[in-house]
Amino acid sequence: MRTQVGIIGAGPAGLTLSLLLRRLGIESILIENRSRQYVEARIRAGVLEHWAAALYDELGVGARMRKEGLVHEGIEIGINGERRRIDFKSLVNKDIIVYGQHEVVKDLIQAQLAQGAPIEFEVSDTSVHGLDSDKPTIRFKKNEESHEIACDFIAGCDGFHGICRPSIPAGVLTEYERIYPFGWLGILSESTPPSHELIYSHHERGFALYSMRSPTITRAYLQCDPAEDASRWSDEEIWAELKRRLGPDGDKILKTGRVFEKGVTAMRSFVTEPMQYGRLFLAGDAAHIVPPTGAKGMNLATADVLFLSRALEAFYKKGSKEEIEGYTKRCLSRIWKAQRFSYFMTTMLHLDPTASDFDRKRQIAELDYYTSSEAAARSLAENYVGLPI
Ligand code: APR
Ligand code: PHB
Repeated sequence: MRTQVGIIGAGPAGLTLSLLLRRLGIESILIENRSRQYVEARIRAGVLEHWAAALYDELGVGARMRKEGLVHEGIEIGINGERRRIDFKSLVNKDIIVYGQHEVVKDLIQAQLAQGAPIEFEVSDTSVHGLDSDKPTIRFKKNEESHEIACDFIAGCDGFHGICRPSIPAGVLTEYERIYPFGWLGILSESTPPSHELIYSHHERGFALYSMRSPTITRAYLQCDPAEDASRWSDEEIWAELKRRLGPDGDKILKTGRVFEKGVTAMRSFVTEPMQYGRLFLAGDAAHIVPPTGAKGMNLATADVLFLSRALEAFYKKGSKEEIEGYTKRCLSRIWKAQRFSYFMTTMLHLDPTASDFDRKRQIAELDYYTSSEAAARSLAENYVGLPI
């Protein structure tokens, strides 16, 4: 097999890249080690920045998102039971769309198949070779048969646990990381969300987030120990804690329902630099992770591949290497701002078990400031809806 760009991984990064390249007339082959059913059912976050939603429209995959996605013009922030609204519309005149990442993945795969773009699911033993040559290759197995793809470039969109980042020779990459002393116990439930917008609630018992997948499906999270075993929590205990952390009216406004998904996510911030080696380019979670508090993961992955597609366009259309050489720099400028914002939201909202009394007083002042000063609220809103791309 031979192609221009070999793409590894059918998450939001790999799938969006394939469609972006196709629109530019650049060929690609995408391989994924899981099944189509698996990637379409994988539950992740679901907030689309303003520009990312517009990009899906441009790529012709926005129809279901526009119909079923929920447009939010603000969020609420809880401070020990008192809730204050950050109004995106009046502060920055933009909104966001709440639409599950797996729904985005379904729409992208459907478009991929409809356009006849090559995609292979359930491959195994993926490896990359000749990265520092101008003819790198991808090897993999499918149904016990070995295959090789000769490429001009390889896009490593294979997530945090993929094989691309570890294939870069030792000493090339510098990794920056912060592990947080808390995780999120998340549930999906058949119940009406407590508000039509997201509520990020700081509480002296710990953080809680009240989100949704639809007007009848609640997605909610409780701050917990990162090593917590989700099965130790009964549904009743989860609902009682979610009510407490919402505030004095929690009992009244939080509707309970059948819980059909429960799990714990640990939280980390991670960046690798550079994001490229020879003809291999990393994008999305393969290169960076953000804690979910700022809802930036899928948006950052989408931004990386947009920059990569522009760089490859310059290479193929103008013969220019400058843009592909500048790929890391272009991405990192956005990534570090998203890291800063995700860190800020995470540390402002969670209860740090190691915090001193001074830290706690400062934290409450920070929450008060960002929810009462128009200038501060505008900064939060500008980052939440997505910085200009
Ligand atoms: N060969 C082929 N595919 C692989 C391999 C491999 N060796 N290793 C991993 N993959 C696949 C995974 O199965 C997954 O489908 O790569 C894909 C990576 O997708 P994501 O993890 O969704 O990463 P990305 O596309 O960068 O999207 C980032 O996902 O984790 C969330 O919060 C994150 O929202 C963000 C988004
Ligand atoms: C979600 O709905 O899963 C969600 C929303 C906002 C976040 C994180 C997760 O910041």
